[in-house]
Amino acid sequence: MDAQLDALLDAARRARAQAYAPYSRYQVGAAILAEDGRIFQGANMENSAYPTCLCAEHNALGTAVSSGARRFRAVAVVTELDAHGRPGSPCGQCRQALSEFGLDWVVLLAGPSGPPVRTTLRELLPHAFSGEQLG
Ligand code: THU
Repeated sequence: MDAQLDALLDAARRARAQAYAPYSRYQVGAAILAEDGRIFQGANMENSAYPTCLCAEHNALGTAVSSGARRFRAVAVVTELDAHGRPGSPCGQCRQALSEFGLDWVVLLAGPSGPPVRTTLRELLPHAFSGEQLG
């Protein structure tokens, strides 16, 4: 894995420490690598009105786009491992949100330590809906 992706994974692990998840207790950290090298972090933020909860990936993307970034290379997502030792994977809404900026994202999924599972957004979101369909 290249140095930028190593740094991205570290950033997602640090972001996870900021998760506000008093209801699910499932803490998620995300970090997004822009083409210009900038890294944007996000953590999940829950609310007593459950549908108001915000995912880590969506928060990181909002920060990135609000900072002017539009072209991205990769996203790293860090969660607890499940009973089978697998890290979490972005929810459908987050996959769709990321896809607004293309499908050529490298996606790293990891637990609190250890190497990530590496995939792509194209693999996570086949037959994606895109703005092109709007005509
Ligand atoms: N969550 C994320 O932050 N990202 C995902 O892709 C899946 C779920 C959060 C939302 C909620 O705070 C907690 O994980 C449990 O669903």
